[in-house]
Amino acid sequence: MTSLTVSTHLATPATLPAVPLAELRRLVCRYALNPNLAALLPETRERAWARLAGDARSDIWLISWPEGTETGWHDHGDAAGAFAVASGSIVELTWLLGAVQERRLAVGDSRSSGRDHVHNLVGASPGRSLTVHAYAPGLVTMGAFELGPRGPVQRGTQAGVSW
Ligand SMILES: [Fe+2]
Repeated sequence: MTSLTVSTHLATPATLPAVPLAELRRLVCRYALNPNLAALLPETRERAWARLAGDARSDIWLISWPEGTETGWHDHGDAAGAFAVASGSIVELTWLLGAVQERRLAVGDSRSSGRDHVHNLVGASPGRSLTVHAYAPGLVTMGAFELGPRGPVQRGTQAGVSW
């Protein structure tokens, strides 16, 4: 996997007020409109990411998704988040009402989620897809899950940036 850091500021004091989900969603939608995003990440066979911006309350990342690559089932630790599709398409898998739910998101689509959200994201377009993600506070840990017969089961916690 390839990771580029475009900006560096990872302080996320817990005493700062939370960023509303609607604000995170507006942020990712605005960033996703930038026509120059593709130049920020090399074409690779695996997912790649670059930090676009951040402050004490939130981080914004660009992620590229070659077709068929996926995150695996995960949560976002203590962070709420939002993402928007800038090019291509992404399939989001979630567990709801006893079954895996599949939602395809195309250019211009966005989603937001609270800190307890568990999902798996999959690149779903030929070539690569690009998405912009915002997390508040910035991601420090992510829970890693396996999909069992009754839904995702947490198998561990991953520290650091590796989505
Ligand atoms: Fe995620």
